[in-house]
Amino acid sequence: MELFPVIAIDGPTASGKGTVANLVAEALGWNLLDSGSIYRMVALAAAKRGIDPANEAALIPVATGLDASFVHGRILLEGEDVSVRVRLEETGNAASRLATHAGVREALLSRQRAFCRAPGLVADGRDMGSIVFPGAFLKIFLTASVEARAERRYKQLIAKGLPANIEDLLRDLRARDARDSSRAVAPLKPCEDAVLLDTTTKSIDEAVRFVLDLAGERGVRSPA
Ligand code: CDP
Ligand code: CDP
Repeated sequence: MELFPVIAIDGPTASGKGTVANLVAEALGWNLLDSGSIYRMVALAAAKRGIDPANEAALIPVATGLDASFVHGRILLEGEDVSVRVRLEETGNAASRLATHAGVREALLSRQRAFCRAPGLVADGRDMGSIVFPGAFLKIFLTASVEARAERRYKQLIAKGLPANIEDLLRDLRARDARDSSRAVAPLKPCEDAVLLDTTTKSIDEAVRFVLDLAGERGVRSPA
């Protein structure tokens, strides 16, 4: 059982989890866990060592010994600033491949749980409500149509000056959804006690308000 209250926000790629989790954590003054960035950093650390995302045995020590830190909004891997590389689609795709291994997921569990500190935690990923924080008092499953998600990701990448092509994104998102949902360990699916939120036609503000209202109904309010 978690020592501090947790809001778990799970869902497919580009559904808005990161953005919504960030704003909810900010409104409540709580800690934030972007679990996807941890899988992405394992992908970068593995690539640096020439390890293929299919090689579970070689990946486990990389995941266990991951030297990653978040400093002033920058993401450091072994002391190197990887804030841009970590967000590339190729990094997300490699992360999705290595995230299929039970041994890699197990190796990252305690690192993720260590983010649960006072006064509370907002955690986003694929298995926050099901595996990492099963006692979360609020579990949200965020979705949006694949077309809306591809369009959002496209705009996000272009705004950052990164390469993007809408057809490639649609194909990659579909492949990633299929892999994340069909894997044997911790597949992407809503927990029985999760509240579903489809953001296809919802703004970020509406999604954040929805989560904060539910948290309020369960006794957690933003500080005045
Ligand atoms: O931002 P986006 O939703 O595209 O991806 P992400 O959350 O950064 O995660 C990258 C990949 O890591 C996902 O496609 C998942 O396969 C994997 N992942 C996971 O398996 N479990 C998590 N809790 C978070 C990410
Ligand atoms: O973390 P995840 O991959 O689920 O998605 P994200 O990076 O938080 O969101 C992807 C993009 O969609 C961001 O640029 C958000 O600003 C945008 N977004 C949106 O336009 N409308 C929403 N309701 C949610 C997110």
